[in-house]
Amino acid sequence: MEEKVARLREMVRESDNIVFFGGAGVSTESGIPDFRSVDGLYNQKWKYPPETILSHSFFERDPAEYYRFHREKLVIDGVKPNRAHLRLAELEAEGKLRAVITQNIDGLHQAAGSRNVLELHGSILRAYCSRCRRPYPAEKMNHGQGVPRCVCGGIIRPDIVLYEEPLDDDVVRRAVDYIRKAEVLIIGGTSLNVYPAAGLINYYKGDKLVLVNLSETPYDNYADLVIHEKIGEVFSQI
Ligand code: OAD
Ligand code: ZN
Repeated sequence: MEEKVARLREMVRESDNIVFFGGAGVSTESGIPDFRSVDGLYNQKWKYPPETILSHSFFERDPAEYYRFHREKLVIDGVKPNRAHLRLAELEAEGKLRAVITQNIDGLHQAAGSRNVLELHGSILRAYCSRCRRPYPAEKMNHGQGVPRCVCGGIIRPDIVLYEEPLDDDVVRRAVDYIRKAEVLIIGGTSLNVYPAAGLINYYKGDKLVLVNLSETPYDNYADLVIHEKIGEVFSQI
């Protein structure tokens, strides 16, 4: 572990063109469960699997049940950025890190002070009307009762990418651009199971691909450095 972290530290020290690509594992040390670990979101008992509830067609069909799940499972009060979020924000401020590309919807990178955050799957801290697209504060959606409605009568929805929905073209284009030009690409806290997000890393052309993830991923053999440790612990040492 120490030797690998030392290698990462060296790569970080030498570069001013680092890009970070992360997922749910970045926020577990803040107390937000990930999706696919044994005690993750997908292994909890619910009437439907989370991939179903978090889908566009389910949201249209049963918004009340969607919101029950959303408020109970996606909204977690009092969470704070952890050492991984905080170190990433510092690296950006030091002029070393160009962008954080995240699959997370929790807003913790921005809370830590990161400015250039590309949210591939959107954010539960934003809401808009599914009919007229008028933006709404997220508070009522995340903490209210029942199905939140717009003045036009449409249903207010979170600004997240549900299953069956495409990613935002502009966000994807910018993410590809950062990854393509990156000198060091650090991928952390993601099972790399969900496409198209996971496929973005194929755009990386360099020879400093670092994976920091507790469990193995399909890309372990492809990376130049693999660290199977907690990301907050690793980032507190680089
Ligand atoms: P997953 O739950 O699939 O993967 C999280 C990964 O993080 C797992 O491989 C864990 O081993 C690892 N992990 C957990 N805690 C960690 C820690 N402290 N340090 C390092 N690694 C840790 O989550 P994602 O890959 O983000 O999509 O999942 C991708 C997408 O699937 C999510 O954005 C979401 C979900 O369905 C949508 O909602 C559209
Ligand atoms: Zn409306």
